[in-house]
Amino acid sequence: MQDILDLQNQIARDLPTPEIFRIHEDDYFQEIFRLDRAVIGVTTEDGLIAYSIIRLPRDAEDNLGRDIGLPEMDLNKVAHLQAAVVHPAYRGNGLQRRMTMAHLAVIEDLGYEHVCCTVSPKNPVSLGNIFSNGFVIRNLTPKFKGWWRYIMYKKNLCPIKVDKSKAGEEIAIAGRDIKGQVDLLNQGFIGFKMALLPEGFEVFYGKYQYPFTF
Ligand SMILES: CC(C)(COP(=O)(O)OP(=O)(O)OC[C@H]1O[C@@H](n2cnc3c(N)ncnc32)[C@H](O)[C@@H]1OP(=O)(O)O)[C@@H](O)C(=O)NCCC(=O)NCCS
Repeated sequence: MQDILDLQNQIARDLPTPEIFRIHEDDYFQEIFRLDRAVIGVTTEDGLIAYSIIRLPRDAEDNLGRDIGLPEMDLNKVAHLQAAVVHPAYRGNGLQRRMTMAHLAVIEDLGYEHVCCTVSPKNPVSLGNIFSNGFVIRNLTPKFKGWWRYIMYKKNLCPIKVDKSKAGEEIAIAGRDIKGQVDLLNQGFIGFKMALLPEGFEVFYGKYQYPFTF
């Protein structure tokens, strides 16, 4: 617990902007620890240098299944990727991606069908990693403190492969264009990949049906 709090607080001090990462108190982590394998950590001779957290929100108000329009009866099949952090000295080793992969296997093992998480539009590194783990953008909405968040989704069990040639129109839009992306999502588009640009990044939207994998 203390190692996690220390790493969390160190990362918080180092953020380019506070709104990309929500800080939690120890009672929040106590609740998380009730679930076996809810936390995956990476240790080196420097101690804990990275962790990933998952949570099963069940009937909690903040179940992200609601933000993507899942039917009420499916909400108890939702798992959240709740947070991932890597110590600045150890970034660039793909640890977020690898911890997420390990946690997706845990979620599958637990029999949970839907996986959701939030990512800030000001956090392209995390967005790229979550895309590469097979998630798509299903919503973009203000969350805690009014901070904008992509609501990312992955169907964890039995994903279906789709024929991309039948997907129709594909639109690339600047990551900083919040209103434009909200409009696209309201029209039934989903975000399925991103590309870094010299200034910022762009997100690609298409009218794919889900569940699917690319
Ligand atoms: C998001 C985060 C977990 C990714 O760490 P990671 O797994 O080490 O990232 P990657 O290995 O995918 O790194 C990809 C590239 O981005 C760079 N990078 C990683 N994090 C970066 C950051 N915060 N700022 C700038 N560049 C960063 C890496 O150096 C690497 O560059 P390279 O390919 O040229 O070596 C880490 O940046 C972090 O802890 N951020 C603060 C907390 C946070 O935002 N968590 C996610 C939301 S819960």
